[in-house]
Amino acid sequence: MWFNINILFLITVFYVVQAENNAQILNDRASLVLFMSSIISDPKHALESWNSSDIHVCNWFGVKCDKNRNEFLELDLSQRSLHGNISPALSSLSSLEILDLSWNFFEGRIPTEIGSFIRLKQLSLSWNNLEGTVPSELGSLHQLIYLNLGSNRLTGEIPTSILCNGSSNLEYIDLSNNSLSGEIPLKNNQCGLRELKFLLLWSNQLVGEVPQALSNSSKLEWIDLESNFLSGELPSRIVNEMPHLQFLYLSYNNFSSHNGNTDLKPFFAALVNSTNLQELDLAGNNLGGELPSIIGSLSTSLVLINLDQNLLYGPIPQEISNLFNLTLLNLSRNFLGGSIPSELCQLGKLERLYLSNNSLSGHIPSAFGNISHLGLLDLSKNELSGSIPDSFAKLPQLRRLLLYENQLSGTIPTSLGQCVTLETLDVSHNRISGTIPGEVAGLSSLKLYLNLSSNHLQGPIPFELSKMDMVLAIDLSSNNLSSTIPSQLGSCIALEPKFRKQLVVSNAKTIQDEEEGRKEIKYPRISHRELVEATGGFSVSSLIGSGTFGQVYKGVLKDNTRVAVKVLYSTAREISGSFKRECQVLKTTRHRNLIRIITTCSRPDFKALVLPLMRNGSLENHLYPSHGLDLVQLVNICSDVAEGMAYLHHHSPVKGADENVSVHDSASFDSTDGLLCGSIGYIAPEYGMGKRASPQGDVYSFGVLLLEIVTGKRPTDVLFQQGSSLHEWVKNHYPSKLEPLIEEALVKYSPAQTPIPPYQSNTWRDVIVEMIELGLICTQYNPSIRPTMLDVAHDINCLKQYLSSDSSTLLIEKVPTNEGI
Ligand SMILES: *[C@@H]1O[C@H](CO)[C@@H](O)[C@H](O)[C@H]1NC(C)=O
Ligand SMILES: *[C@@H]1O[C@H](CO)[C@@H](O)[C@H](O)[C@H]1NC(C)=O
Ligand SMILES: *[C@@H]1O[C@H](CO)[C@@H](O)[C@H](O)[C@H]1NC(C)=O
Ligand SMILES: *[C@@H]1O[C@H](CO)[C@@H](O)[C@H](O)[C@H]1NC(C)=O
Ligand SMILES: *[C@@H]1O[C@H](CO)[C@@H](O)[C@H](O)[C@H]1NC(C)=O
Ligand SMILES: *[C@@H]1O[C@H](CO)[C@@H](O)[C@H](O)[C@H]1NC(C)=O
Ligand SMILES: *[C@@H]1O[C@H](CO)[C@@H](O)[C@H](O)[C@H]1NC(C)=O
Ligand SMILES: *[C@@H]1O[C@H](CO)[C@@H](O)[C@H](O)[C@H]1NC(C)=O
Ligand SMILES: *[C@@H]1O[C@H](CO)[C@@H](O)[C@H](O)[C@H]1NC(C)=O
Ligand SMILES: *[C@@H]1O[C@H](CO)[C@@H](O)[C@H](O)[C@H]1NC(C)=O
Ligand SMILES: *[C@@H]1O[C@H](CO)[C@@H](O)[C@H](O)[C@H]1NC(C)=O
Ligand SMILES: *[C@@H]1O[C@H](CO)[C@@H](O)[C@H](O)[C@H]1NC(C)=O
Repeated sequence: MWFNINILFLITVFYVVQAENNAQILNDRASLVLFMSSIISDPKHALESWNSSDIHVCNWFGVKCDKNRNEFLELDLSQRSLHGNISPALSSLSSLEILDLSWNFFEGRIPTEIGSFIRLKQLSLSWNNLEGTVPSELGSLHQLIYLNLGSNRLTGEIPTSILCNGSSNLEYIDLSNNSLSGEIPLKNNQCGLRELKFLLLWSNQLVGEVPQALSNSSKLEWIDLESNFLSGELPSRIVNEMPHLQFLYLSYNNFSSHNGNTDLKPFFAALVNSTNLQELDLAGNNLGGELPSIIGSLSTSLVLINLDQNLLYGPIPQEISNLFNLTLLNLSRNFLGGSIPSELCQLGKLERLYLSNNSLSGHIPSAFGNISHLGLLDLSKNELSGSIPDSFAKLPQLRRLLLYENQLSGTIPTSLGQCVTLETLDVSHNRISGTIPGEVAGLSSLKLYLNLSSNHLQGPIPFELSKMDMVLAIDLSSNNLSSTIPSQLGSCIALEPKFRKQLVVSNAKTIQDEEEGRKEIKYPRISHRELVEATGGFSVSSLIGSGTFGQVYKGVLKDNTRVAVKVLYSTAREISGSFKRECQVLKTTRHRNLIRIITTCSRPDFKALVLPLMRNGSLENHLYPSHGLDLVQLVNICSDVAEGMAYLHHHSPVKGADENVSVHDSASFDSTDGLLCGSIGYIAPEYGMGKRASPQGDVYSFGVLLLEIVTGKRPTDVLFQQGSSLHEWVKNHYPSKLEPLIEEALVKYSPAQTPIPPYQSNTWRDVIVEMIELGLICTQYNPSIRPTMLDVAHDINCLKQYLSSDSSTLLIEKVPTNEGI
């Protein structure tokens, strides 16, 4: 009896607790419904499930509950393109620990009620259009570890309470890219941010000095105060306390060095014990003094030092050569003098070296030829004399060589003709004499720019210039060259109209004719036999990969075109479908910077695709197949191409290895066989900075292609008109200025003469935005955080499905990134 009563009691207790929790959940449900009512647009149908009374609130999109305690823990609606206000009603979700509304279009103010989420650990409202001030009530969130309000339109001062209200657990503070003003409010001794690891306040209007109290945050790893109006001496006493510091960005402020802006030594000395320091950026501060030799005692983990645009004088200390892991050194726009220490050339990992606009004199050390990763060397605007060293020819990755506005003499070394990676060569405004060596003029890899103007060059214009069929501008003016232009120069088909006037060589008519001719080019038909010959009888030595769908061989056609022959197993049933689909790509894709499929070879028992192994992709005029294609077809094509590339990356060249590992291991992917080594503008930024062709580079090129297709902008147009990459150009429109791009794409890709039905228009807009986002993600600067081709193919496939079933929700998950996009 007693026993039964006890059980009954327990059951009763259980139900009471349950009922209370249910009441709480009902309450939370009501708050969420209120929150939803202040959202005016939900183009991705993120909140569709919220409208259904059948679905339990814990199963609503973006909602996570603690199932045991029936508590509401997390609301994550990031990247859903939501428009509207953040309703204060949310604040009654008192058990919430994570609130993430980042990457949407929320506007209005941050509700002060947010201060009542007493259990909140993570708050992210970044990348919205939020206005007004940062509510001081955030100071009540004592559990908060992660606070990100970056990239909004917040104004006013940073409330003291955030940093100084009791013991703070904050590890991550990001208020960057707003319009916050006033000082960094860490005034008194109670402001303990002992756990702080990240402090990101860049791009605001903050003034005053870096507060001394920050020195108590000794766990700091990442300080970014770039682009503010901060002043005072460089914070030596603060960074001295930071053994874990990895990234220190103080550039574009008004800091000064010690002792009346004359002494940099104390600051560098203070950094000596930060043994994990990787990047140090002090550019644009008007810092005075000599570069102290103690710079050579900084951590060898340093990969980047930027001191561009300061007032540094004196010599470059040779001790800098101790920092053997440096990949970027920028000392441009200072008053540095003396000669370039040849010890600098011991920095064997250096990829970019900027010393331009200083007062450096003496010779260019020939030891530059030892820096095998060097991709960019800018020595322009100095007083360098002597000749151009022969040793540049040894540099296997050199892409940009800028030596203009010096006093260099001698001749152009013929060995420069061996720099097959060179894209830009500018030796203008020197005292170079002699003739233009045919070897240099014949640098067929030169893709962008050749400027030899204002020198003492003589003799004929070499006909080899005609081999530079990808160059965008050649300037030979202000020399003493003979005036006849070799007729062969007419074949410089890629010369940009914009630059023709400046060219010594210009022949618009020939150029036009050539272009017309090119459009008519038909791909050759290729017989099975020719493929047998090209691949040495499909020999094992020409096999570059195999996978479930078939094998890929490399080969050389009769006309010396290097090709990859993808032979599809004809036995598997699905292959026939896959082949047909890839043939569709072949028929519709004419983008020769992408996988330019040369042809197919099909017999009942043998099916193959022939793709070029492009070493020198060529710059073509508008090639994306917009004519007559609508968005559905376009997405289908992109999907096919993405799948083809995913196949080649993940199934074919990698034999047996773990896929996830091998794709990021460029060693398993032969560099010369990069699938998309296309033209300038498509090439990933890491190429020529010590990185070789890689799958991530292909992902980059594919991303550029997506951006190009959607925006109708050629990467080279943007490069020349705005000096930025297509990625940057689109990013500048993202997300708030996308509308015109979307409208344009909608017009361009609507079915012929048929306006898009209104019910479709939203879907199409989503798809266009998704394509842009995907393009941006693929073209992120850091190769390691780009998605893989498998991810990309998956995403585009989702878009395809979304387009074909207008009602379905979009399932694309964004790859989380550090860089944002
Ligand atoms: C929810 O349903 C109402 C009424 O059907 C509708 O007006 C509203 O747009 C829907 N909200 C969402 C987010 O789907
Ligand atoms: C500081 O914290 C206390 C309690 O933890 C809270 O009552 C107070 O409102 C907070 N102050 C501000 C300005 O948020
Ligand atoms: C700053 O934020 C705006 C949106 O508020 C965004 O367009 C811009 O790209 C951001 N800048 C950077 C450098 O992230
Ligand atoms: C650092 O914290 C200690 C106490 O924890 C305090 O006495 C000291 O004043 C703080 N330093 C600064 C610069 O705020
Ligand atoms: C920068 O700081 C110096 C003092 O170090 C001051 O004279 C100068 O006006 C400041 N410049 C700006 C733009 O604030
Ligand atoms: C760096 O650390 C060493 C040993 O830990 C110490 O002797 C030295 O004073 C420190 N230097 C600075 C600038 O703090
Ligand atoms: C230098 O860089 C390599 C990777 O490139 C890294 O393994 C090594 O630890 C670095 N050296 C130091 C001292 O940080
Ligand atoms: C280095 O300095 C140059 C100025 O000569 C500047 O244009 C460039 O953006 C800087 N590059 C980097 C990566 O800091
Ligand atoms: C060269 O440097 C000086 C001094 O920093 C600066 O005034 C000038 O504008 C710079 N020139 C260029 C072209 O950057
Ligand atoms: C350049 O490399 C060569 C051979 O590797 C070596 O003999 C020479 O000392 C190096 N020069 C410098 C300045 O490091
Ligand atoms: C070539 O260099 C000269 C001098 O440095 C410059 O004036 C000219 O604009 C450059 N030519 C082109 C086509 O950029
Ligand atoms: C230009 O070249 C001609 C011969 O090709 C030579 O006679 C003349 O002296 C040269 N002029 C200059 C300024 O070098």
